[in-house]
Amino acid sequence: MQRIKVKASTNYEVVIGKDLLNKIGVEIRKIAEPCKVGIITDNKVAGKYLETVKNSLEKEGFTTYNFVFKNGEKSKTVETFIKIQNFLAENEFSRKDILLALGGGVVGDLTGFCASTYMRGIRYVQAPTTLLAGIDSSVGGKTAIDLKAGKNLVGTFYQPIKVVFDIKTLDSLPEKEYLNGLGEGVKYAIMDGGEIYELVKDGLSHANLEKFCALCVKSKKAVVEKDEKEGGYRKILNLGHTFAHAIEKLSDYTIPHGRCVAMGLKIIADVSLKQGWLSTAESILVEKLLKNNGLMTPSPFEKKDMIEVMRRDKKVSGDKITIVSIAKIGKCEFKEIKLDQLKKYLR
Ligand SMILES: NC(=O)c1ccc[n+]([C@@H]2O[C@H](COP(=O)([O-])OP(=O)(O)OC[C@H]3O[C@@H](n4cnc5c(N)ncnc54)[C@H](O)[C@@H]3O)[C@@H](O)[C@H]2O)c1
Ligand SMILES: [Zn+2]
Repeated sequence: MQRIKVKASTNYEVVIGKDLLNKIGVEIRKIAEPCKVGIITDNKVAGKYLETVKNSLEKEGFTTYNFVFKNGEKSKTVETFIKIQNFLAENEFSRKDILLALGGGVVGDLTGFCASTYMRGIRYVQAPTTLLAGIDSSVGGKTAIDLKAGKNLVGTFYQPIKVVFDIKTLDSLPEKEYLNGLGEGVKYAIMDGGEIYELVKDGLSHANLEKFCALCVKSKKAVVEKDEKEGGYRKILNLGHTFAHAIEKLSDYTIPHGRCVAMGLKIIADVSLKQGWLSTAESILVEKLLKNNGLMTPSPFEKKDMIEVMRRDKKVSGDKITIVSIAKIGKCEFKEIKLDQLKKYLR
């Protein structure tokens, strides 16, 4: 088991290990008196883990309520947000009570947003059950819901009071969802190099999963502690994301985010190589890293279409865009590049 302390506007602990869900009551009791806990989850996760979580909380004296919504990004809406707020009000939740996000990034983002706004803010705990949520979205306090006009357009920065990541839950995660999370995971390996890179370079083994997740969280923690509200430096986490967002949009969000990040990482490695920012030897290492983890799928879209989407990106100023480039495994830097130049490099 690993315990990682995050120092942000709220200080909190991220606990990572096996079979933690049946001890989640004990974990929350360490930081809170018995109160109401509103468990927010989706129908798929509820079927697998809700009972365990409820039992564990009730054993420690908490009174549980649960709100279950349909799984998937399509539920991360204003409508679900309002339903949850009504559920909290009808069950007379007060600022002394706690919300618990049990699920993937959709559940986490939505619950965090509800927690940050209900009665101007109540406490919440993240219990991620996907690889993506465990190594990325549950840490750092970004909360969000989607609008028809785009993803994550409404949200807040609001940190949880604890994150409890039971990696045993990943045993039931479909391969597609696992690879989705791994796309973000290899991003951390490229950013940090060192131990985390060594763990995944030949393909991540199950035996190293806990260590790997802890290193990803440590990597994100370090960035969040420097720049919690994304004034500048936190944008380094956008490595591969400028292209990923374009691919996601062109696919009408049918290709999972993490897979798009993996495609984006390959593109930024190619661009960095062609610009002379990255050596041939290091670009081969990036390619091998993606290949060995089953993440070497090229973008299915035309370069002109990708550039058109990128022109509307908020990182564009005039004819230039700021991107996170790869200097080598373990070193990434912000660089400005002309969109026309970028177009030449895309295949
Ligand atoms: N807040 C942040 O910093 C941040 C960062 C990255 C992504 N995100 C957001 O995260 C969301 C994506 O998260 P996600 O990929 O976890 O998606 P998700 O929450 O939709 O989960 C993916 C699917 O897996 C199922 N599932 C979850 N846990 C399971 C388990 N243990 N066993 C079997 N099935 C399980 C879910 O029901 C769902 O169908 C997006 O909305 C994205 O915008 C947020
Ligand atoms: Zn991402």
